[in-house]
Amino acid sequence: MAGAGPVICVVGARPNYMKMAPLLRAIKSQPGMPSAVLVHTGQHYDFDLNDRLFVDLELPAPDVNLEVGSGTHAAQTAEVMKRFEPVIDQYQPSCVVVVGDVNSTLACSLVASKKSVPIVHVEAGLRSFDRSMPEEINRVLTDQLSTWLYTTERSASDNLAREGISEERVHFVGNLMIDSLLSALPKAVSAAELFHRMGLDPEWASAPAGYAAVTLHRPANVDDEQTLSNIVATLAEVAQRMPVIWPVHPRTRASIEKFGLDGSLQRHRIACLPAQGYLEMVGLMRSAAVVLTDSGGVQEETTALGVPCLTMRANTERPITVDEGTNTLVGTCRSRILQVVDDVIRNGGKRGRVPECWDGKTAPRIAHHMAHWLSCPASANAQQ
Ligand code: UD1
Repeated sequence: MAGAGPVICVVGARPNYMKMAPLLRAIKSQPGMPSAVLVHTGQHYDFDLNDRLFVDLELPAPDVNLEVGSGTHAAQTAEVMKRFEPVIDQYQPSCVVVVGDVNSTLACSLVASKKSVPIVHVEAGLRSFDRSMPEEINRVLTDQLSTWLYTTERSASDNLAREGISEERVHFVGNLMIDSLLSALPKAVSAAELFHRMGLDPEWASAPAGYAAVTLHRPANVDDEQTLSNIVATLAEVAQRMPVIWPVHPRTRASIEKFGLDGSLQRHRIACLPAQGYLEMVGLMRSAAVVLTDSGGVQEETTALGVPCLTMRANTERPITVDEGTNTLVGTCRSRILQVVDDVIRNGGKRGRVPECWDGKTAPRIAHHMAHWLSCPASANAQQ
């Protein structure tokens, strides 16, 4: 049952912040909306993964911080659930807004669902069809529990229809990540400035073939010694062609140290940086010749920026970045990666177009639609 209380907006981990920042602003400025309460589960807590991004994205400090921290998937999900339930009891919200596919997204959806509070899922319907990814489980279950599902690409509606979700609950609105990206571009830190700050060779910013930017954190790529060693060996070969700049996720940093791969990285033109702020990442991606990643958000950002992207996974839940954008799925196959990097050097790499409604106006579209159905709660109840 929709209450008369505020809209609770949930964030938990790094990729949530880029989506929630523009949406929270739009919700707060949309006439007829209840007030908004920002809840941070505390899944990510490091300065580099968390506080720094709040500043870059101009996200206000959370009204509530559940401070759950790290743990196994079960422990983390359970802890978020235990700590989120009293928040629902206290605020009696009109609805709970969750974004993306992290453990916090599912945990808060489960709690809201059992309290009969309508759930709004932004970035619904994406599917990798790979249930070994924890995010895929989170996507499927969150969508099943949600009252309103906002999608970033039209293929998502087909996925939801196949899972029995009625089309009246699904709305194609475009991509919130791109709202943040477009507003960050004028403030982005240039690659030359970043290289200077990090003490890197300034000539790398103007190397003849350009430079490659790398991000990796998926368990499938970084938790296994053999897989990560092979990736590092491949990056060393990329580094023979162009400098490689790699802001390293804490999970990946721990694996590099555990498997003793530091020495190998230092011998090559591979600069391992700490995880970067948003304005630094946007600047780094914008000027790169090519980006190698296993991140979902980076696949979308590079498509919007028109920068060739090599996704080091066997699948993607964001097929539009391959069909229309600059993304190529390469897995972790050394020869395939070097072939595509060589194509970038010779021909500039894959070109694409910016997908429909990735126009920086997704947040107001969502807020406008939410205001409409929140003003007639019967429509939300009827959807459940
Ligand atoms: C999580 C999300 C993933 C998202 C990614 C972006 C899930 C299932 N995964 O993965 O979808 O793309 O965030 O970063 O929700 N750690 C720190 N500091 C932090 C947070 C984590 O050091 O602030 C370390 C901990 O040792 C932790 C490990 O990183 O065990 C993994 O963190 P976790 O939140 O479990 O998953 P991510 O790999 O970050």
